[in-house]
Amino acid sequence: MMGSCVVPVLIGLILLQIHKISECHKIEVTPDPGTTVEFIKKAGQGLDCDACKDEGPSQTCNSKLELTEARPTIVTFNCSQPGDVFTVEINQKIDCSPTACSIIATHPDSTRFLEFSRTFNWDLKVQPDRMFQLDFPAPGMRQIKPSESCPDKHTYTIITYQRSGPISIGTFCRNGTISCIQALFKGRVSLEVPKGTDLNPSDFKVSIGPDTKATALVVVVDVKLPRGLSSTDFFTPNYGTGYYSEEKIKWNFAVEPMQNFTVLFQHYTPPECKNKKVLVDYTLADKTSFTKEPKDIQPINKQGDFSLTLTNCEPTKDSLVPGLSLNINVAVFRGGTPYLCTADLRKEEGLSLQIENKNPESYCEMSLNSVAQEKIVVPAGTKADLSFLDCPVQDLQLTATQTYDCPRASPLDTRPLSLSIPTLDPSLHVPLHKFTWLLRVLDQSTVDLTVKNLHQSVPDKECNKRVSLLVSETDGSNIGQFCSMAEGTIQKIQVKGNVSITVTPNTIKDLSQEKETFLRVTMSPEITENVIYTVSPLVSGPMYLATPNWPHGMNPSSSVTWIISVPQEHKAELQFTNVSKPVCDSGHTEIAIRPLDSQGQTQSWREDQSFANTIIQQQSFYLNMSNCEPKSGRFAVLSKVTLQKETKNFLNIILAVVGVLLLLLIIALIVVCVIRKRKNKPKTNRSSIFLPRGKPFLPGNATFPKSRADNESHVYASIDDPTMYGNFADKNQPAEIDNGAWSNGHPVDAYRPFSGPSDSIPSAKDSSAEYSMEGRGGDRDAYQPFLNPPNTFNLPRPRSPLVSQGSLRFEDRRMIDNELHTFKSFGDINPIRLSADESRLQPQMESDTDSNAEPEYEEAI
Ligand SMILES: *[C@@H]1O[C@H](CO)[C@@H](O)[C@H](O)[C@H]1NC(C)=O
Ligand SMILES: *[C@@H]1O[C@H](CO)[C@@H](O)[C@H](O)[C@H]1NC(C)=O
Ligand SMILES: *[C@@H]1O[C@H](CO)[C@@H](O)[C@H](O)[C@H]1NC(C)=O
Ligand SMILES: *[C@@H]1O[C@H](CO)[C@@H](O)[C@H](O)[C@H]1NC(C)=O
Ligand SMILES: *[C@@H]1O[C@H](CO)[C@@H](O)[C@H](O)[C@H]1NC(C)=O
Ligand SMILES: *[C@@H]1O[C@H](CO)[C@@H](O)[C@H](O)[C@H]1NC(C)=O
Repeated sequence: MMGSCVVPVLIGLILLQIHKISECHKIEVTPDPGTTVEFIKKAGQGLDCDACKDEGPSQTCNSKLELTEARPTIVTFNCSQPGDVFTVEINQKIDCSPTACSIIATHPDSTRFLEFSRTFNWDLKVQPDRMFQLDFPAPGMRQIKPSESCPDKHTYTIITYQRSGPISIGTFCRNGTISCIQALFKGRVSLEVPKGTDLNPSDFKVSIGPDTKATALVVVVDVKLPRGLSSTDFFTPNYGTGYYSEEKIKWNFAVEPMQNFTVLFQHYTPPECKNKKVLVDYTLADKTSFTKEPKDIQPINKQGDFSLTLTNCEPTKDSLVPGLSLNINVAVFRGGTPYLCTADLRKEEGLSLQIENKNPESYCEMSLNSVAQEKIVVPAGTKADLSFLDCPVQDLQLTATQTYDCPRASPLDTRPLSLSIPTLDPSLHVPLHKFTWLLRVLDQSTVDLTVKNLHQSVPDKECNKRVSLLVSETDGSNIGQFCSMAEGTIQKIQVKGNVSITVTPNTIKDLSQEKETFLRVTMSPEITENVIYTVSPLVSGPMYLATPNWPHGMNPSSSVTWIISVPQEHKAELQFTNVSKPVCDSGHTEIAIRPLDSQGQTQSWREDQSFANTIIQQQSFYLNMSNCEPKSGRFAVLSKVTLQKETKNFLNIILAVVGVLLLLLIIALIVVCVIRKRKNKPKTNRSSIFLPRGKPFLPGNATFPKSRADNESHVYASIDDPTMYGNFADKNQPAEIDNGAWSNGHPVDAYRPFSGPSDSIPSAKDSSAEYSMEGRGGDRDAYQPFLNPPNTFNLPRPRSPLVSQGSLRFEDRRMIDNELHTFKSFGDINPIRLSADESRLQPQMESDTDSNAEPEYEEAI
């Protein structure tokens, strides 16, 4: 008897006892409320094993055990592997006939009875003539032939009980297109899970479906056909054995837009009809309906949702003759016509394209050389056939990247590379969303970006122009966001190492129409800073300078320099408007200011020092910032430079002008006096009366606002035709940089370091010294100390434009010219030009102006 193994202690028979225990299997079972648990001996199992309920005297043993009460019950088997002999059925009744219901049919605890094959049965009942409805969570169910099995070993079967007998609606696996099944009156959903397989529950919903009195439907299956190419099979009830009922079966198919479907009947076994015919009724999305017979050709290449209703004839209900059996196959494929075009990148150096569909909801299908792609990438130097199917252009995003391998900084190659967006194949209708240039350098060369009309975009000065430029180091850190074609202040950006420049549209939609040159690129030798800006603030408004990667911190141990020109008669007010300082791990951050003139005082501050918020600079200066290795925090500085007119100088001009007028008046008086005296007296030699025009005596301490030397610095600002600088070696020097075309018309104070006499008329000695340096070599040597690194700003050019005549008179005449010129335009800060007379004397000087410099760029475009 079984009892011997339930009462385990038999003193002295320990060995026997162990043996006996090993042959038993005891479990405790507590059925969920409303469920019954049944252990059923598998058919045809020769094994001799029983299931016993409870312990002690009340124990009952049988080959079938049903537990109905929701209380813990001890179940004992007198064999060690009861799972080989028994299956477990967990049954639940859902009766919706008295009251409407909407129940989630849940699976019991997934780990229970793992050693048994399990069958979960849900017995469903609604009022007669009503349907019960089963909603399956996504992904839905997939119908298989009754002979097949499911990949995840969770096999569902659905049965409906009709007056004529049970009808198997079908066998289903999870993960399919069927979202809902309705069946008449009474039914059972069974889920079979073999032993050893964890139950992976996917609960479904049970509710009351529609009344079917008028429709005579026994089963309704709702199907959502997936997007893209697919082919799905459905089977008639009792597939294989035959459907002998007269009731109708209906499938509702939902087809995604832009998809065409085709219906195919396979493996059709007609029933033996006593009366009527088997008919198939279709209703399409546009409400058109038609009827076909199973042997007809079914709908091909149609669009939209549709339903298919299968009506049996009046068959011979005899299992000896075949019943209706049909496999319905529905294939779905793309319906549209693709737009074809070609992308030929073989002619554009380094240009590659990327096309992405930004709308995951769209039906867009893109392919590259006939291979469907999520994202099209056309590599540089290739030609590709592209196809777009149902792709609205506004959903697509085209980005282009052009990679240039910049040569080593070479004095021989000074032709700038002009960055403008190349013309893309017009058949490619996709708007250009982003264009990136990758400038790759081989060594630690510096990429010099010469720019025009650019300002940095900061919250106080946002970009409202057509496009924005993002300049980045290729390690991914941004240098800054800039605004192109704006009232600009930046003339040059020099970056050490590889650089990427990305153009994005700001107020426009499509970049491909932007034809202007955004930047010109030249190479120069390595610089010590990571970034150097050459900027000329405008009088019209403040300019903002942001550290690289602002508002995020600068890279650790990186540095940036701004070379800021302050025009004559102006002072610059520098404010640090937004500073965030790190705590340094090693080293210190530093902000340093030094006039370009090497004699100037350097002011500098570390992160642990506080500094003046406003600094006034009377002349062009360096602003250098370097970061430490931060322990915490970040080093990010936003500075603002505002130019102010030096009012003292302005007064001086007025005083000077008044002085000149006074002087002229005196001269006039003297002349009048002399003439009168001449009339009165006989002629005498008066040749000793000579009145210098240019350097008049002025009352008080009023002086001319500008010294001769200063004036010359202006003149030089526009001198940089390479022909002036002669040989190639000089071309590598920054001669080509401060072209009038690229400056803002400001005098560029790069020449200020000229340390010649600053407050006197250039003497013959100056001029001769200048001419003795005509060989250039001396010129460069003399100024080398300022050029660290050599290409960061213009070479000082201590040249007197005057032909050495040693004539004081000549000098003076020029002075007057300048003076008058200054007077005419004192509101402006135009470079003071030589008079026409002198230009004749100095033809090569005039050739330095914009008119000559421009063609060099024109040619480069
Ligand atoms: C289990 O119990 C039944 C009934 O008591 C008995 O016929 C059968 O032989 C037993 N099986 C084993 C393996 O002990
Ligand atoms: C569902 O089926 C599809 C194709 O039949 C398959 O690609 C996908 O991996 C399946 N998903 C799951 C969760 O099994
Ligand atoms: C898809 O169906 C539409 C409408 O029936 C038809 O015009 C189109 O030609 C079909 N597409 C294909 C690829 O056959
Ligand atoms: C620039 O990029 C190229 C290619 O990715 C790489 O080989 C080179 O080392 C980089 N140069 C610098 C200075 O980082
Ligand atoms: C400084 O800049 C940061 C980043 O843009 C901003 O969040 C913060 O408000 C600014 N602080 C001041 C005082 O303007
Ligand atoms: C700032 O940078 C310039 C250019 O690199 C350099 O010549 C100058 O010495 C630096 N000034 C300071 C104070 O570091």
